[in-house]
Amino acid sequence: MYICAVTFNDREDVNSEAFTALKRWVNWFMVLLIISAVLTCYCLLLLLFALVQVALREPLNLHCLHKVFLGLGVLFIALGVAGISCKWRMEWPIIPLSLQAMGPFLQFGAVGALTLLSSFVFQSFHVAKGASKFLIAMVFVTVSLAIFLCPLIIQSPCVINLEDLPEKPKLIGHRGAPMLAPENTMMSFNRSIACGVTAFETDVQLSKDRTPFLMHDNKGEFLLRTTNVKEKFPNDTFNNSTYLTLEELQSLNAGEWFLKTDPFQTVSHLSEEEKKTAGNQTIPSLLDLLHLAKNNNISVIFDLKSPDPDNITVNTILESKIDEGLVLWLPSAEREYAEKNAPGFIQVYSNESEMLEKGGRHLNVKYSSLDMDKISKLRKQNVTVNLWVVNERWLFSLLWCAGAGSVTTNACHLLTDMKTPDLLMTPSNYKIIWILLDVSSVLFMIVLYIFQRKTHCSCPRGGRKNTSVQEKENHPFLPKV
Ligand SMILES: *[C@@H]1O[C@H](CO)[C@@H](O)[C@H](O)[C@H]1NC(C)=O
Ligand SMILES: *[C@@H]1O[C@H](CO)[C@@H](O)[C@H](O)[C@H]1NC(C)=O
Ligand SMILES: *[C@@H]1O[C@H](CO)[C@@H](O)[C@H](O)[C@H]1NC(C)=O
Ligand SMILES: *[C@@H]1O[C@H](CO)[C@@H](O)[C@H](O)[C@H]1NC(C)=O
Ligand SMILES: *[C@@H]1O[C@H](CO)[C@@H](O)[C@H](O)[C@H]1NC(C)=O
Repeated sequence: MYICAVTFNDREDVNSEAFTALKRWVNWFMVLLIISAVLTCYCLLLLLFALVQVALREPLNLHCLHKVFLGLGVLFIALGVAGISCKWRMEWPIIPLSLQAMGPFLQFGAVGALTLLSSFVFQSFHVAKGASKFLIAMVFVTVSLAIFLCPLIIQSPCVINLEDLPEKPKLIGHRGAPMLAPENTMMSFNRSIACGVTAFETDVQLSKDRTPFLMHDNKGEFLLRTTNVKEKFPNDTFNNSTYLTLEELQSLNAGEWFLKTDPFQTVSHLSEEEKKTAGNQTIPSLLDLLHLAKNNNISVIFDLKSPDPDNITVNTILESKIDEGLVLWLPSAEREYAEKNAPGFIQVYSNESEMLEKGGRHLNVKYSSLDMDKISKLRKQNVTVNLWVVNERWLFSLLWCAGAGSVTTNACHLLTDMKTPDLLMTPSNYKIIWILLDVSSVLFMIVLYIFQRKTHCSCPRGGRKNTSVQEKENHPFLPKV
C-alpha cells in the first residue's frame, strides 16, 4: 500500500507500458491500488482483533480461511515487488525519496505506535522468566532507542528556515495539461496557460510531407492510444510517422479517446462545453504550438522522436519568428546545427557530464536521478534543474525545498495554487516537537510499566483467577502451570 501510494505519481508509466503490450487501455494502476488497499484494511482489522484478544487474554487461533487470504496477500506483494524489480527498476529510488520527505512524520507515528504497543510488551515481560525476560528487554530497549533517536540522522530538505527556502519551482506543462484535456492538443496547451505554466513540454515527429507535428507515441503504438486511427483506416497499420501526411493526420480525432478512457479520472470535473471541445481536438502541428507560445510569451521544450537530418524542426522554429530565447533546445542529435543557426536557443542537457563539457546551465532529468543535496549544489552553481514528471504535492514540496528550478507536470492545476511547500518545518520547531514527543512517550511508558507490574504482582500466577488449566496451556502469554 505504501509503495502504491508513493508510486501514484508515476501511475501513467504503468498504464502506458501495459497499453504498449496489450494495445488496450485499462487503468491497471488503479486495479493494483484497490487490491492493495483491500488487503491492507483486511490485515489491519485482523491485527486489531488479535490485539483485542491478547488484551482479553483469549487464545489466538487463526481460522484457515484467513491463512489462505494472508497467503494470497503475501503472494500479491511478492509478485508486485518482483514485477517492479524486473520491469520498473528505475522506480525504486522513489521509496527513499518518500522516506526523506515523510521521515519526520513517520518518526512521530512510530513513537505513537511504540507507546501504544508497549503495554503488550510489558505484559509478556512480566510473565516471562530467565533468558526470555532478558531477550524481551534487550529487543524492546534497542528498538525504542532507535525510534527515539532517529531524528538525529533524519535529513529532510523541508526542515528548513523560511528565509532559506528557495523560490517556488516554475511549472512546465507535460504535453499541456493532460489531466484537463487530451494530451498534446491545442486545448491541452490552452488549459495549461490558465494554470500559469512557463513552458510547454511536447513531442515532435515528422510527417510524410516533412512537417513537424505533435504526438508522443511512436513505433508500434503510434496513433493507436490517442486517436481514432483504427476507425478511420481500419485496414492499415502505421508504425512510422512518415506513413501519413499532415493533412491525413489532421483528419483524425485526437480527443474522443480522452473522454472514453478517462486516463486520470478527471473527465467528470469538465463542464459540458469543455467535454465538447475535448471531443473535437485534432493533432496540432509544431507551428500551431509555436504561434501560441509566441503570443503568450511561453517557452517550448520538446523531445524529437523522428530522425531529422535536414534540420526541418530548427528551420520551422526560425520560420515561426518566435523569440529564440523561448526555445529550450533538448534534442542532442541536432544540437550542433541549432547552436550554429539559432544561437539564441537555450541549450538544455539531459546528461550532466555533457552539460559540464559544453558549459551549459540547464539540466533536464527524471526527478529520481539526482539526490536532494545534488539539486541544492547545482542551484548554488547557477545551474537551472528541471525535473520530470512531478504530479504529487509531497514530491513537488520536496523538490521545492531542495531548490529545483522547474518541474514538468501533468497536474499544473494542483501545483499552481501552492503558496508554501507541504511538510515544511523550521529546524528548531522540529527539534522541540520530537524531543517533547519522545519524553512524553518515555514518561507514559514508565507509568504503564509500574502500573502493569503492580497489577501483575497482586495476582502472581498471571491470568484470571478462574482460568482453566487447559486454556492456560494454550496461551502464549500465560505461564505454563
Ligand atoms: C521511420 O522510417 C524511416 C525511413 O522511412 C526511418 O529512418 C525512421 O527511423 C523510422 N522512424 C521510426 C520512429 O521508426
Ligand atoms: C470541431 O472543430 C472544427 C474545427 O476544428 C469545427 O469546424 C467544427 O464545427 C467543430 N465541431 C463541433 C461539434 O464543435
Ligand atoms: C516574457 O516573460 C519573461 C519571463 O518569463 C519576461 O522577463 C519578459 O519580459 C516577457 N516578455 C514579454 C514581451 O512580455
Ligand atoms: C553522459 O554523457 C557521457 C559523455 O558525454 C557518457 O559517457 C555517459 O554515458 C552519458 N550518461 C548517460 C546517463 O547517458
Ligand atoms: C551565480 O550567479 C551569481 C549572480 O548571478 C554570482 O554572484 C555567483 O558567483 C554565481 N555562482 C557561480 C558558482 O557561478
